[in-house]
Amino acid sequence: MNLVELQQMATAGEKIAMLTCYDATFAKLSEAAGVDILLVGDSLGMVLQGAENTLQVTMQDMVYHTKAVAAGTINCFIISDMPYGSYEHNEKQAYENALQLIDAGAHMVKLEGGGSMVNTVHYLVERGITVCAHLGFTPQSVQQLGGYRIQGKTDESARQILQDATAMSEAGVGFVLLEMVPASLAKQITENIKIPTIGIGAGVDCSGQVLVLQDLLGIYTGVAGKKPRDFKSPRFVRNFLKDSANNGTASIQAAVAAYVTAVKNKSFPTIEHSY
Ligand code: KIV
Repeated sequence: MNLVELQQMATAGEKIAMLTCYDATFAKLSEAAGVDILLVGDSLGMVLQGAENTLQVTMQDMVYHTKAVAAGTINCFIISDMPYGSYEHNEKQAYENALQLIDAGAHMVKLEGGGSMVNTVHYLVERGITVCAHLGFTPQSVQQLGGYRIQGKTDESARQILQDATAMSEAGVGFVLLEMVPASLAKQITENIKIPTIGIGAGVDCSGQVLVLQDLLGIYTGVAGKKPRDFKSPRFVRNFLKDSANNGTASIQAAVAAYVTAVKNKSFPTIEHSY
């Protein structure tokens, strides 16, 4: 699967199924279950390292996990997150770090932010690095955003996100990932830009969907010390392992395959998973 094939898929109206992945075993399993894109997300700071957020994740961590994922798949497209502090300072820094991820096996890098990142995106794209822009709720800015909050609720912030998505598309990114924005805004962006959108908490109208693997399996219950029963999953999460158990087919592979099917046939996400 390459970028052109994924973009053609979106143009033809087939939804793109993306899932986070951090190692070779899950890469192989996810590929067999039909996942199109594996995202080596810096969510690994939370789900693998047990941190409160993604801010402690390093380039070394991302290179290690990108290599592991690349070793487990032949056909999936791999996107790796540029961690906090690895691209914001200047364009050259971003390029050198992006190259490390590409050398480790990524086909594309993902970075967070809109207007302030346009020059960096230009710089990377001109040098042959493909980029995904992450807009809406951007986890690396969790402190500035005042916590895990839906973005783009006011007319002004919705306009800003639409403007950022357009600027990123014009700067040459391959995908725009939209996290925790109103479904109506995600629909408007998807209809207005020329490249596919991938949603998480962004409604059903994006060109594709992404979930964190541990959320899909219902096994992430917050940081150490937090009682699982006190942990509340975000609205956009669906536990596909529980659903496949209810269908009598409980297995991790069946759960991932059920996610892919639900994305492709548009039964996930629904209004209940959207804002
Ligand atoms: O790091 C990650 O897993 C992500 C997803 C939440 C989209 O960026």
